[in-house]
Amino acid sequence: MDHFNYKNGQLCAEDIPLREIAAAHGTPCYIYSRATLERHWHAFDDAFAEQPHLVCYAVKANSNLAILDVLARLGSGFDIVSIGELERVIKAGGKAGRIVFSGVGKRPEEMQRALELGIRCFNIESEAELERLSQVATAMGVEAPVALRVNPDVDAGTHPYISTGLKENKFGIPIGEALALYEKAADLPGLKISGIDCHIGSQLTELSPFLDALDRLLLLVDRLAEKGISIDHLDLGGGLGVTYRDETPPSPAEYARAVSQKLADRPFGIFIEPGRAIAANAGVLLTRVEYLKPTQEKDFAIVDAAMNDLIRPSLYQAWQAIIPVEQNATGRDGSYDIVGPVCETGDFLGKDRELSLSPGDLLAVRSSGAYGFTMASNYNSRPRAAEVMVDGNQAYLVRERETLADLYRGEHLIP
Ligand code: LLP
Repeated sequence: MDHFNYKNGQLCAEDIPLREIAAAHGTPCYIYSRATLERHWHAFDDAFAEQPHLVCYAVKANSNLAILDVLARLGSGFDIVSIGELERVIKAGGKAGRIVFSGVGKRPEEMQRALELGIRCFNIESEAELERLSQVATAMGVEAPVALRVNPDVDAGTHPYISTGLKENKFGIPIGEALALYEKAADLPGLKISGIDCHIGSQLTELSPFLDALDRLLLLVDRLAEKGISIDHLDLGGGLGVTYRDETPPSPAEYARAVSQKLADRPFGIFIEPGRAIAANAGVLLTRVEYLKPTQEKDFAIVDAAMNDLIRPSLYQAWQAIIPVEQNATGRDGSYDIVGPVCETGDFLGKDRELSLSPGDLLAVRSSGAYGFTMASNYNSRPRAAEVMVDGNQAYLVRERETLADLYRGEHLIP
């Protein structure tokens, strides 16, 4: 459930009509609902209430400072993949002691900064990375808490670009090699074994891949115990899917119940790294119809948002609902391809959408709160969109629209 609903025929974010936001801040514009974000975060936190746990929101889904601040105020942890995300979390008031650091390519200066701040855990993805972290920590005279990200070789049943837990993927340590690498980690200086980590993919709509992965991780936990290596947490990663159209993913409560059953009374904490399930349906992309272009083959509606603003439809053939801001708007009925101004045939937000449109109409692309703005670019020299957060009957500009001067900031002519 989210807080984007029609009231008196007007699509609203909480109590604010989107039309008012378009008038105040222009289009294209991302709009987030604070109440929805909080609701989704609590759904995870409540679901795991019975056991020690940490919800580490995956910052890559949406890293706007206002989003991070809202979650930090709830006591959220954060899953980061770069020093940039680390500094954002700290800037937004997140606690270093609740940060886990994922990603296959951590640089020494990123490790150093994370160690200075005292993050909760490094999720290590290779032997070479483990050795590097040992060196960096030893040089600083500190101990780095580590989990090995294990690749359990399960098929997440999702789009190949966002499936990460198969042995042919670049992610994690093959589960068959994990035991030996844990033994090595135990011997290396500057490291303290803290957990086991796993993330098998994104937009999962079934529980079984999660549970298959968990079974394999628990076998590893037992084998580690036989070697005298104990862990204090199991990080199950993110990946729980959302409803874009008619998917019926498990709820956080169903997910937590199934996980708890498998864990029985094992004595370690559970970390989870949800991104999409917290942010996706807490945001929409607001756009305006510039032109209608009926052709013999197709009806096109050319809007002012494009693949540079929201790349998911182009990149993953993702389907996101596109709905009118004015509920009963009447214009030209058609089955429209909603396309942007970018010079690529792949620049579309949706295809074959039954809508009644006129130029100037406002449309909302739903489920855009995750992997929307964070994947935006300046392609075609398009300034990135404004971002607004609604909190009840207040709307706050949380990121200014980029200016034309921003486009070439830092560029120089040669003499
Ligand atoms: N943890 C790790 C280590 C990850 O790599 C990811 C996502 C997450 C957590 C969060 O997963 P989530 O709960 O959001 O599914 N751009 C794609 C999604 C890429 C996901 C990458 N990793 C999309 O728009 O569908």
